[in-house]
Amino acid sequence: MNKYSNKLIENFPDYLFNKINEQKLNLRQIGEDIIDLGYGNPDIPSHELVVQKLIESAQIKKNHKYSVSKGIHGLRNAISKKYLREYGINLDPGINIVNTIGSKEGLTHLLMSVINKGDNVIVQDPSYPIHHYAPLIAGANVIKIECLSIDGFMNNLKKSLKNEKVKVVLISFPHNPTTLTVNQEFYDELVELAKIYNFLLINDFAYSDIYFNEVKPPSLLKSDPELEHCVELYSLTKGYSMAGWRVGFAIGNENAITSLTKLKSYIDYGTFQPIQIASTVAINDLDDYPKEVSSIYSERRLLATEYLTKYGFEVQESTATMFVWAKLPKKYNNDSMKFSIDLLSKSNVAVSPGLGFGKFGEGYIRLALVENKQRIRQAMKNFVKTSNSD
Ligand SMILES: Cc1ncc(COP(=O)(O)O)c(C=O)c1O
Repeated sequence: MNKYSNKLIENFPDYLFNKINEQKLNLRQIGEDIIDLGYGNPDIPSHELVVQKLIESAQIKKNHKYSVSKGIHGLRNAISKKYLREYGINLDPGINIVNTIGSKEGLTHLLMSVINKGDNVIVQDPSYPIHHYAPLIAGANVIKIECLSIDGFMNNLKKSLKNEKVKVVLISFPHNPTTLTVNQEFYDELVELAKIYNFLLINDFAYSDIYFNEVKPPSLLKSDPELEHCVELYSLTKGYSMAGWRVGFAIGNENAITSLTKLKSYIDYGTFQPIQIASTVAINDLDDYPKEVSSIYSERRLLATEYLTKYGFEVQESTATMFVWAKLPKKYNNDSMKFSIDLLSKSNVAVSPGLGFGKFGEGYIRLALVENKQRIRQAMKNFVKTSNSD
């Protein structure tokens, strides 16, 4: 028992990925070269123009002061113009948009600002881990719904809504880890449900800009033009490969954005202004960069899929995200943790066990495509060592 930990933190379950992370660290310390397809940390650099703008703005002394907690007007205006340009959605940058420290912080504080203790929040399982923990931090009761197929998720959601009064439904499409995508009709149906059952719909849109065909993943907000029930979290992390910059936005319903803006104004002073200025350039001037980034992930995806299929993994077909989601062949007894640990120790390749994303992720692994093609090819060749050695 840690005497300076409260009950909430104390009761958080051990992070399942810790086991893999510790083993990765130990192997690296003894000089092993680990091909890391576990951690979804983009390896593609941010655009040169954005870096230049950051350097330039950092040299201007007035930019060293506290910035505006909700984000400078130019940045919020840039994102509102982007939503109009790309999705045909009208937003008022003054009331519908707040800058966040990436989508992860935005989501956590958004839930803290709209949830009362004991409110029910529906989340997907499997899902990006913070989707399970952010509602807990906010004091919610978390209801996990299996999300291994779109129809399955919708059916389970409808059943759950009939039985429970729900305050928030938290979704994320394109989906990490399963790579599932949805169309606008799916969102139309969800918004109808939000009207009937009166809940707030939050879409973590972290993978909005990583897609491989002509059809851009739709925005939830398009299905709710009055912005009565919806908030979307948009991020520069993946599409613009700006993970470390920590720039995201909460966008949508005025009441929810007002609450989040108020909470944030009490606890932070906003992102370093040169980062906001450089991010404005990315959003205004670099619509093509996410397409370049996507085509790199697309090639890596094809390569990994080809090998995995040959080895008997069932790979989820997808047109978006930077991941491959694959079902283990039968001989591994549905044990994603054992497979991942064996793979790391025998083949120096790290992947994420599906179980780490929730109980319905068991039996799967997730590969993050954050190494170059040569190293992914090497990883795939190493894979076979593990599968032949048992
Ligand atoms: C679904 C999802 N949301 C949010 C994040 C984190 O995004 P950000 O860097 O914008 O906080 C990730 C990163 O892997 C993610 O997969």
